[in-house]
Order: sequence, then structure tokens, then C-alpha cells
Amino acid sequence: MKDKIEQIKMEFEEKIKGKSLKEIKELETYFIGRKGKVTELFKMLKTLPKMQRREFGAEINELKQFIEKNISEQVATLERKEKIRKLKEESIDVTLPGIKLHTGNLHILSQTILEVEKIFLSMGFDVMVGPEIEKDYYNFEALNIPEFHPARDMQDTFYLAKKILLRTQTSPIQIHAMEKYKPPIRIIAVGRCYRRDAVDSSHFPIFHQVEGLVVDRKVTFANLKGTLAEFTREMFGKDVKVRFTPSYFPFVEPGAETSITCVLCGGKGCPVCKYTGWLEMGGSGMVHPNVLRGVGIDPEVYQGFAFGWGIERIAMIKYRIPDIRMFYQNDLRFLKQFKG
Ligand code: PHE
Repeated sequence: MKDKIEQIKMEFEEKIKGKSLKEIKELETYFIGRKGKVTELFKMLKTLPKMQRREFGAEINELKQFIEKNISEQVATLERKEKIRKLKEESIDVTLPGIKLHTGNLHILSQTILEVEKIFLSMGFDVMVGPEIEKDYYNFEALNIPEFHPARDMQDTFYLAKKILLRTQTSPIQIHAMEKYKPPIRIIAVGRCYRRDAVDSSHFPIFHQVEGLVVDRKVTFANLKGTLAEFTREMFGKDVKVRFTPSYFPFVEPGAETSITCVLCGGKGCPVCKYTGWLEMGGSGMVHPNVLRGVGIDPEVYQGFAFGWGIERIAMIKYRIPDIRMFYQNDLRFLKQFKG
């Protein structure tokens, strides 16, 4: 019996060397499983005399414990090794360059519009929108431009149906604003306009305007000047000035063309400003009493000023863009230059 115990111990020590986890599980069954070698020994005990039973019983127990201990130690070592191997295999090199994601950017006109809105919002204006498809009434009639008025020839209009058109200016939003809100009104509205213009470097059938309208008691031309001067400084820089020259728009009286100092030559004169030192930005003026009356506002009590500047013009000057067509060609080489 003693020999057998010794023999099994040796066999176990021999077999456990260099075994894998799976092989160790097999060894476990082979030695101490239900039909294992050690288990067999216990069965053999029963055939021995009582005295020997006690002696060998203790020894077999010792052997069993020895095997169990060895196996669990071996299993623990192997599992630790396996864990380290896995961690190594799955480790990532954080110093490797990443995969570059291609991000887009807002179109330069959208960026300009957001900037314009931000400046006017900071000056206490609200931002409004109006429809691009308009009734003749809003685009002309309510703006003191009756049928057969020569001013209608100034703008070549896209008509969709009789008296339904694509707005030629953002000024109809003035009427919507005054129909919707009671004075005091202080709004701007940016939007697309359409005119049947021949295309060249400064004309395109689609373009954008920013319309401004203020209606309140005691509104004067000085307020208009101050507002546009402040906007100009914020948009183009401290040294840029606004100039008002008398002009005619049926919905304002007096009306003025507004220009800013040429930002390219600083007012000295260059090809861009055609040697005048000034760049035209758009129209402005005091809201015509007929327009106020038309929307039920008493011109004896309230006055208003309005202006309409070209968004493309603003962007072209600010970002030195030489041709209006560039905004609408969607050439990536152009668009990518304005990544904010
Ligand atoms: N709507 C005019 C245009 O498109 C500009 C303008 C706006 C003039 C507001 C006066 C007041 O030319």
C-alpha cells in the first residue's frame, strides 16, 4: 500500500509538469475524480485490517490534499500568465496617429449671417424671418410702390403667378413686422432675395439682404446713423465710417444710400472702390408716412427708420472675395478657406 501511495505521488509530480489548463483539469479527474487513482485507493482501504486502515487512510488523505493543493496552485499560475498574455495582446499604442475625421464647416454666407445677427442681437434687436414667396402687396404695394410706379422697373421680378412673386428685397418683412407687432419695434431680418439680373462679378439672381426696422416714438435719422455706424465698427473695425448720400426709395423719406470707407485702401482710392474711397452697402431712410399709415400706425405719433444691406457685399468686403459667383459655385477649394 505504501508503495502504491508513493508511486501515485511520483506519477502525479511527473505528469503535472508543463501542463496546460485543460490538461490539468484532466489530471484532476484522472487522480482525484470519482473513478480517479486516489479514489481507488480509498476503496482499497476497506479491504485492509482496521489498524492499517487508519494509518493508510491518513496517508491517502495527505496525498489527496497534496494533489489538490498542487493543482490549484498550478491553475492559479497559469491563469495569471494567461491574463498577462491577453493584456499584452490587447494593449493599444496610444501614441499612434489617430484616424482623421473629415468635418465640414458652415458656408461663408451662413457664417456672415450669424455674425450680423449676433451684432444686432447685442444691440437689442430681435431676429425675424419672412417668406421668400411673396404677394405683390408686401413686396411693392404696401411699400408705397403702386402699380405702374416707375420704381417697379428698378427691380426685375420673378413672377410665379399673377401678383405672386419671389421677393426682390427683404423690405416686405417690414410690413409683416408692423402687422404682427405694435411699436416699439426693433427687428432685423436676413433672407434670400431674387432678381432677374444678368450675372457678373457683382450680380447674381439670388442674393441675401439684412433688413432692419425700428419704429417708436421720437425715432430720428440720428438713430439710423448711430445704429449703422455701430454695426459697421463691430463688423469691419473701429476706423471704418459710414456715409449717407441722398437717394430715393419709395418706402422711405428721406432716403439715403449708405456706403462705408473702403477697407482695402482706407479711403484713399483703389480699383475696388473705383477710386472713390467708398463702398456702397445698401439703402436706408426714415419709414415713409404712407407705409406707417398703411399698417395702421399713426405717423404723427410714431416714426421709424429702415435699412437694407447686402449680405454678399458685407462678406465680399470683410473676407476680400472678388466675385459674387464664388458663393454659389460650391467649389470646395473656396469653401474650405472659411473653416471657423
Ligand atoms: N430694399 C431696398 C433695396 O433692396 C433697400 C432699402 C431698405 C432701402 C430699407 C431703404 C430702406 O434696394
